[in-house]
Amino acid sequence: MNILELILSGSLSWGCSGVLSAYDMAGAAKLYQANCVICHGESGEGNGPAGQYMNPRPRNFTKDKFIRGDKPDEIAETIRTGFNQMPPFGNLSPEDRINLANYIKGFRK
Ligand code: HEC
Repeated sequence: MNILELILSGSLSWGCSGVLSAYDMAGAAKLYQANCVICHGESGEGNGPAGQYMNPRPRNFTKDKFIRGDKPDEIAETIRTGFNQMPPFGNLSPEDRINLANYIKGFRK
């Protein structure tokens, strides 16, 4: 197992959280891989394997504005409800959704 797999598996999240940032970045990265990457892409540019065929395209997190607001709690709410062709993620916990919201804000350049 390499270091990336360790981080993605969450084993290192204790060591990282609080050092890198205030949220569970390793946990969020894992959730992003599992739920969002297929559409929003590895680098958050809206160019995932499924995303590139969608119209409108999934948001490009590096530069697009968020229609429903880009505060963490507003993004978390978008994740809960979904948005047009984006499916809802009501199955994720409120904590997971806030972690994801903080994580995708990190793509902004
Ligand atoms: C099936 C593809 C798909 C998946 C999976 C998906 N999205 Fe999206 N997402 C979209 C599309 C398409 C849009 C743009 C919808 C539109 O503009 O009509 C979007 C828009 C967004 C927006 C912007 C909403 C706004 O206010 O403008 C955010 C934030 C977002 N997605 C986050 C996520 C997160 C986080 C995940 C994973 C939990 C995720 N998405 C999973 C397709 C997807």
